[in-house]
Amino acid sequence: MEELPPPRHLIDWQYIDDDTWQRCLTRTLEHYRQGKHAWSQAARHRSLGLLFFNPSLRTRTSMELAAVQLGAHATTLVAGQGTWQIEWRDGVVMDGPAAEHIREAIGVLSEYYDALGVRVFASQTDYVQDRDEVLLRAIVRAATVPVINLESAFYHPCQALADAATILEHLGGAVQGRRFVLSWAYHPRPLPMAVPNSALLMAARLGMEVVVAHPPGFELDEGVMARAQADAAAHGGRVTVVHDQAEAFEGAAIVYAKSWGSRLLYTAPDDEAALRAQHRHWRVTPELMARTRQAAFMHCLPVRRNVVVDDAVLDSPQAIHLKQAAFRLYAQKAILEYVWHLPPFDP
Ligand code: CP
Repeated sequence: MEELPPPRHLIDWQYIDDDTWQRCLTRTLEHYRQGKHAWSQAARHRSLGLLFFNPSLRTRTSMELAAVQLGAHATTLVAGQGTWQIEWRDGVVMDGPAAEHIREAIGVLSEYYDALGVRVFASQTDYVQDRDEVLLRAIVRAATVPVINLESAFYHPCQALADAATILEHLGGAVQGRRFVLSWAYHPRPLPMAVPNSALLMAARLGMEVVVAHPPGFELDEGVMARAQADAAAHGGRVTVVHDQAEAFEGAAIVYAKSWGSRLLYTAPDDEAALRAQHRHWRVTPELMARTRQAAFMHCLPVRRNVVVDDAVLDSPQAIHLKQAAFRLYAQKAILEYVWHLPPFDP
């Protein structure tokens, strides 16, 4: 009997070669040019199961619509809302509230669907568990079909592909060496690092002049930073870190705002909140944007107005956050084509 290839999972782009990344980017831009009313039957008779352990507006709707517009069927499940409560730990006696183990949940869904999209959560209490993607990897181990990471503890590859295509389209493809500022911003809650990690790695892979701006104490993961520096160097770019927002914004072509919690205070929430509160002024303002070279303002959304960014920036022509969100649909289509070996990804 012919041996089947292993499922094409999308955990994060760093596990996927440059050629495939480039083809996914090209394909996303092709879908963008076809527009939001482009329907096909490319994925006819295929099915996609979506399982969310966290809320979502963009990822859920864009992935459902992408599947349907490619001719596939999509089902969305929200864990704990109409599903059984799910146990993650191996070897436990399941005599508590959880009636189903992740092994069976994913094993069963693999029997029905041709791919699974899963959004899991960061514990935000166990840094090693989050960094090592323990929950997402448990799902991948239990699955027999491709698993698409719809945002995990540490990475958001669907967002990253859409972001990269947005930047390429906005800057007309000439992105190498252009200044990309990933700016920390104040937020009332400590947020996970999935988006900043993926945005950093994405801009580095585009060969941009990446500047990570954050207050001391909000350093990103050392392994992610090292990977970004290596990727940037390999693609003609560079990654630097500054602790001054005004300095970071000088000459920027793209400003990407995002908040994240302090990994150094991962297990000390009161200390983390006190440190974060000292930096309420880290907010994107028109004055900061005036230091840039007419930079585009990006944010993955949802965004807290007048906390992360002023109305005057978000409502200005420099803000491209809605276009960025629009690209999510086109990126999801490219991802589905990739994991399902559809043209132009057919071997
Ligand atoms: N950016 C993003 O992933 O949005 P949602 O959380 O609404 O899916």
